[in-house]
Amino acid sequence: MQHHVNAFAQVEPALRLPDLKQALYDDPIFLPTTVVGLHGDEHKEKRRVVQSLFTREFFRQYQNRVFPKALAETLAPAVAAGGGDMSKFAYRVLVNLVADAAGLDRDGSEAQTDHIQMIIGKLGKAPTIGQMLSGSRDAAVAEIAEALELFKTDYYLHSAARRRELIARKRADPSVELPRDMLTCMLQAYDGSVDDDQLVRDTAFFILAGAFTQANALQNTIWEILTWCRSHPEARAELLTNPELLQKFIWESLRLHPASPVARRKALCPMHLPDQTEVAEGDIVDINIATANRDPSVFGPDAEAFNPDRELPRRVQLYGMSFGAGMHACVGRILAAGMPVAIGATDGGETEYGTLYLVIHALLTEGIDFHPTQAPTIDESTTRKHFHSFPFIFRGKEIA
Ligand code: HEM
Repeated sequence: MQHHVNAFAQVEPALRLPDLKQALYDDPIFLPTTVVGLHGDEHKEKRRVVQSLFTREFFRQYQNRVFPKALAETLAPAVAAGGGDMSKFAYRVLVNLVADAAGLDRDGSEAQTDHIQMIIGKLGKAPTIGQMLSGSRDAAVAEIAEALELFKTDYYLHSAARRRELIARKRADPSVELPRDMLTCMLQAYDGSVDDDQLVRDTAFFILAGAFTQANALQNTIWEILTWCRSHPEARAELLTNPELLQKFIWESLRLHPASPVARRKALCPMHLPDQTEVAEGDIVDINIATANRDPSVFGPDAEAFNPDRELPRRVQLYGMSFGAGMHACVGRILAAGMPVAIGATDGGETEYGTLYLVIHALLTEGIDFHPTQAPTIDESTTRKHFHSFPFIFRGKEIA
């Protein structure tokens, strides 16, 4: 039997139930052994390693050193061309950024960006494989196996070899600096006890989780911002100079367009949901984040509308439940969406603005706008708002 959790107040307690196991990622070769597919102690252990990457030092190094280089690489050709297609640009920029955080050594070329994107695109079929019919399912499994092999030979092996050598050198000389990335964390925790194929899956999943979610968020947020600016032209200048405002626009867009609209779980034993619904062992529970994020009892009568200034009940975030909760809560939330600017700013250090903020600020600075004659086209076949094409232009630098 299948149950549905739709009310905002029920989502977090449902995601925290320890007897509900991840059920969205049940392909036979890729996701079940990565952090998002594991359960119980095995999950706790791998999550501890994944989380160990996200220190304050990591955010600073990423924001100040890794990020500007990777962004410039992808932005420069689009600026030179006077614009592009956001449905492609978003993936290019975010695959590069997350590949760096994952620990892939890249040459920075456009051809290589396309190649990584092609591989991750094929791996992106894994989450929906459970719902496929048998014929196409076999083909999809074969495609995922092929993509993992390509990822291993073309990116993983040389990136891991360089890190292994550095880790060995650091044992003899503590002054050796190690890269701050996921692959280094994984090798330090597991090298020798886990085979390379598992580390390949873990690293590839990290890119999938970080790049595709953010690419979806970037497209939707740019669409919301440009649409808003049509009716509020004065907002453009303010978005460039008021970080708190830009952050609100991003979070409100994340609420309306969650990258993972549904979290699916399976009951490990007979149990009750937080609203006392009875659940039998093996039942499926779909926790509908997209519906909960538009719950009018929490977000008000205009919950369906984009309104970055909305009043929120205490302890409710503007991005709603878009980053999940409980044992599988998103570890990349701060990297993607930052810390509240006001809090970060009073912390005596630098603010973690988040990747989306930094990319969107750069695009606004270049004067991004809708293409004057080519409207975006939207894929209406999915509940997730997905752009077939999203032509944009740069109107020239805006003064911040
Ligand atoms: C807009 C951006 C993002 C959104 C909306 C998002 C959303 C989510 C959600 C809803 C989950 C929980 C899935 C579930 O409960 O089944 C999740 C898990 C996860 N996310 Fe994100 N994510 C984003 C960005 C990122 C980034 C940038 C990274 C890393 C670079 C990342 C890494 C992960 C990982 C590793 C997990 C699995 C955690 C676990 O299973 O313990 N995410 N994300």
